[in-house]
Amino acid sequence: MTRPTGYDRCNRYTTIIVDEALRRGLDVEVLDPELGELRIGDGMREEVVIQSLSQRLPAVSYFRCEHKVASRRVLSAAGLPLPAGHVIADDATDETFLRQHGTVVVKPARGEGGEGVTVGVADVAGLHEAVEVARRHHETVLAEEMVEGEDLRVLVIDGSVVAASVRRPPVVVGDGTRTLGHLAEALNAERREREGGIEVPLDDRTLDVLAGQGTSLDDVLDDGRRVVLRRTANVHTGGTITDVTDRLHPSSVETACRAARAVGAPVLGVDLIVPDVDGDGGVIIEVNPMPGLANHEPQPTAQRYLDMLFGAE
Ligand SMILES: Nc1ncnc2c1ncn2[C@@H]1O[C@H](COP(=O)(O)OP(=O)(O)O)[C@@H](O)[C@H]1O
Ligand SMILES: [Mg+2]
Repeated sequence: MTRPTGYDRCNRYTTIIVDEALRRGLDVEVLDPELGELRIGDGMREEVVIQSLSQRLPAVSYFRCEHKVASRRVLSAAGLPLPAGHVIADDATDETFLRQHGTVVVKPARGEGGEGVTVGVADVAGLHEAVEVARRHHETVLAEEMVEGEDLRVLVIDGSVVAASVRRPPVVVGDGTRTLGHLAEALNAERREREGGIEVPLDDRTLDVLAGQGTSLDDVLDDGRRVVLRRTANVHTGGTITDVTDRLHPSSVETACRAARAVGAPVLGVDLIVPDVDGDGGVIIEVNPMPGLANHEPQPTAQRYLDMLFGAE
């Protein structure tokens, strides 16, 4: 099994697909290693994919996932559970929405990796600031009721749930001697060691999150005190991932499968906030048309993906 040219420059979201394709004896050509664009063939058929994005995904479905206002409309029309939401109009209705829900999340209609998202907005000044931040990413900005619970990612491929994982924001725990800055640096050093470990950016956003907890990088953390470094659980800003496929509540399975049908996506990462990982009552906060297949060890995500494209082995 020789690896195709460009393999070494592919990230693990791409190599997981290449490895499985080679294992099956498929032909693989790397068209763009940075993007993860591949041509995979079995001698009769050829598929061009960009990681988990394939030509089986209709453009309209893609748009419905990419635009959070469109996602909400489609999912809500299908009767799926969503947090209350409101498109920011720059008038008194925004403040009414904030008052109704107490604490809200503000996000750009399009974006990823938590960019431009502000969690835990609780007053009007904070709302204006969060809207301004979100507008830098997209002109349309959405406020949502802030839902408490665990961040669950459910991966649906070809109509079935293949994997689920919980994502948690990065946390450090004090030892009574080291500063928060040292603890965060130690966490990042550990991440650098580990393959695929993503560091927590120690940027203004993180400093704000710390300030919100009454602390800063120079503070020595009391023994056992837990401090979150980011409000969001996005993997790209250092969130952690735990596989929970076997603990998933049937209602989360059903919600995720119905969401994939509603948007019309053959591969979909459905993000829910659930009160408990193995409980019901989750709401959908986002649908991702190009979910990372490598985030679900040890579940057979690349296998099911290639089953979908080339038929089961
Ligand atoms: N309604 C909500 N209630 C609570 N937390 C939320 C809500 N919406 C988003 N979040 C938090 O913010 C993160 C980023 O929001 P998300 O809508 O997934 O945007 P992105 O597309 O940038 O990932 C989520 O992973 C979650 O931790
Ligand atoms: Mg997200």
